[in-house]
Amino acid sequence: MSLPPQTGTAFVEFAGVEKVYDGGAPAVAGLDLEIAEGEFVTLLGPSGSGKTTTLMMLAGFEAPSAGDIRLQGRSLAGKPPHRRNMGVVFQNYALFPHMNVERNVAFPLGVRGIRGAQAKAKVEEALALVDLDGLGARRPDQLSGGQRQRVALARALVFEPDIVLMDEPLGALDRQLRERLQVEIKRIQRRLGLTILYVTHDQAEALTLSDRIAVFAGGRLQQVGSPKAIYEHPRNAFVAGFVGENNGLRGIVTRRNGSSCEIRIAGDLVLQATPVGPLAPGDAVTATIRPEHVRLGPDLAAPCNLFSARVDDVAYHGDHSRVRALLPGGAAVTLRSEERIELGASEPLTIGWCAEACLAFADGAEPRP
Ligand SMILES: Nc1ncnc2c1ncn2[C@@H]1O[C@H](COP(=O)(O)OP(=O)(O)OP(=O)(O)O)[C@@H](O)[C@H]1O
Ligand SMILES: [Mg+2]
Repeated sequence: MSLPPQTGTAFVEFAGVEKVYDGGAPAVAGLDLEIAEGEFVTLLGPSGSGKTTTLMMLAGFEAPSAGDIRLQGRSLAGKPPHRRNMGVVFQNYALFPHMNVERNVAFPLGVRGIRGAQAKAKVEEALALVDLDGLGARRPDQLSGGQRQRVALARALVFEPDIVLMDEPLGALDRQLRERLQVEIKRIQRRLGLTILYVTHDQAEALTLSDRIAVFAGGRLQQVGSPKAIYEHPRNAFVAGFVGENNGLRGIVTRRNGSSCEIRIAGDLVLQATPVGPLAPGDAVTATIRPEHVRLGPDLAAPCNLFSARVDDVAYHGDHSRVRALLPGGAAVTLRSEERIELGASEPLTIGWCAEACLAFADGAEPRP
């Protein structure tokens, strides 16, 4: 599901990469992934899906069990981390506690033999880039969590690395701070034309930051594409459910006509859906529909899929409301409405959606991480 190999254009290339720890099940398997220069690529997936392992192999802290990783066409096999010219920021990448901010940021320069006035100028520039001018004399324990991650970022950028690897760098911060730093990371990336490989399990963060998202589950790359492609054209039920929210309705295909199909779900309800991949009558499927694509009656003229339902629950979210509706067969459908909704429990309502917004995936095709 990765892009076809384009010889000569990849900046970073994972080719058939596999990692097995201690003879266990592979943590990463069959990984083909290319990253272009200046691209912001995010590895997104649930806990244990192989994201950190992938990053560690690129950084050189872990060696692949099979396959090859190349930077600008040259294999990185056998090259130690300190010779890879990669900046690394981790969620808990401890700063040196006894060193002040300036010395922390200068550290990778010292390792590379850059000292004195030249180092001082670079450190100042890096601190200005992350908005920490004037805080160089502080120790890490005199900084907030957000400021510490800025120091870690400055330290990863100060030696002008070929690529910056970030593993959940904002994971420990509260939401507002996380969103502010997301904006800043993106600004710095654009300004410097940085190549970034970023890891998160937060799908909203991945959608905001990335040029492309690589969705992982069970050590396997499920799909790679732009945020829009991943959100609007998921390849399987796992991606559809993991990126953004989706209702999933289990059923059996009863008819297939070219680009649409008919599915019978609980309560003998029949839905019109758009099949993803080869589907035939008799196949067990999950039909997915995003909450924002479900319309609410009573005078609804939705094409294709129109059902009488009952209100199960209404939740107020300030700028929108979420209604959980139950179909006659018992299946639940959550919908999102920007309008103020005055509905009581068990009240009847009509809901509907169009076939284009309802994607059907064969069951059992998704990974079981
Ligand atoms: N050093 C190790 N030794 C043995 N198994 C490991 C080691 N590191 C990771 N694993 C296993 O490899 C698999 C992938 O782990 P990895 O850390 O890459 O996941 P992840 O996607 O980064 O998860 P998380 O979101 O929780 O950080 C998991 O099953 C994990 O238990
Ligand atoms: Mg991890």
